[in-house]
Amino acid sequence: MLNKNDIVEILKDNTQNHNLFNLADDTRKKYVGNTVHLRGLIEFSNICSKTCKYCGLRYENKNIDRYRMTQEEIVECAQNAVELGYKTIVLQSGEDNFFTRDTLCKIIKEIKRLDVAITLSIGERSDDDYKAFKEAGADRYLLRIETTDENLYKTMHPHMDFKNRLKCLENLKKIGYETGTGCLVGLPNQSLESLANDIMFFKELNADMIGIGPFLPHPDTPLSDAPHGDFNLALKVMAITRIVLKDINIPATTAMETLNKNGRIIALKSGANVIMPNVTNTKFQEKYEIYPNKTKSGNDFAEYKETLEIKLKSIGRTIAQNKGFRNPTK
Ligand code: 5AD
Ligand code: SF4
Repeated sequence: MLNKNDIVEILKDNTQNHNLFNLADDTRKKYVGNTVHLRGLIEFSNICSKTCKYCGLRYENKNIDRYRMTQEEIVECAQNAVELGYKTIVLQSGEDNFFTRDTLCKIIKEIKRLDVAITLSIGERSDDDYKAFKEAGADRYLLRIETTDENLYKTMHPHMDFKNRLKCLENLKKIGYETGTGCLVGLPNQSLESLANDIMFFKELNADMIGIGPFLPHPDTPLSDAPHGDFNLALKVMAITRIVLKDINIPATTAMETLNKNGRIIALKSGANVIMPNVTNTKFQEKYEIYPNKTKSGNDFAEYKETLEIKLKSIGRTIAQNKGFRNPTK
């Protein structure tokens, strides 16, 4: 198994990238096969109480039109996605306290009736909330650590507590969620050592899903003038993660597509096996601007899925017909 120093060396050396991506692709094929899992993403509220320096949804950004979907709108959106064949619904939002434990449990239960897997991506909540969501039917939870460099974490996340984030991830695992985490690549002052530590952390946590994307500066944030993360470096971190963690689920992230118009296909050929198409009503999608030029899925979700299927076929991949758990017996 690769250790931290090996990973730093791989990240430094760009002469072997082609071999690295091929090895990650072989590992993906061996452990998770040629199917691609589609997860229908619903961005149900762009209201957030946190102030992450890189994110356009941060509380201090006043130059954004905030929205919150109603319970009915959320469920309807899930229904539409299920009709199109999605087997997993991802509910994502800013840290919006309007959505109490009870409200969320009601939404989860309603969507669960559609016979789909449910992933939550709604930030740090109490252990009791996490338990209640699980009991209501949620299967998976995404909470990126963003960076394991504690000092960098502090600079990037004013008023947030690194230890609490770790605690949340441990709780999620303990409660029995398939747990996803991940990091940003190319944050100001982020070292290659810290990226290697991020990968070691994913392994130590035994994460079930890992999302990795380049940092993209948003004009209405304190990092507006910072350079964006490097596409190839993000791809390398993702490829090494595949090689180290083997059988996990790894999305080709939208942020990759923003930097390279073929980004998600390249990611799928370098270790990724998941795509998360946005199934949110377009009028909301436009307002969920974590970073600028986020890929939109257009108005016609059926057409979008068909086009995707053709693209996948051209690289020898098919859309998975199951719910896509890491543990296939689930
Ligand atoms: N660039 C790239 N990714 C971002 N995220 C938030 N802001 C940005 C940005 N400016 C990512 C974070 C978060 C996920 C939902 O989006 O990693 O966990
Ligand atoms: Fe809020 Fe998440 Fe954006 Fe941080 S990254 S400001 S928690 S939406």
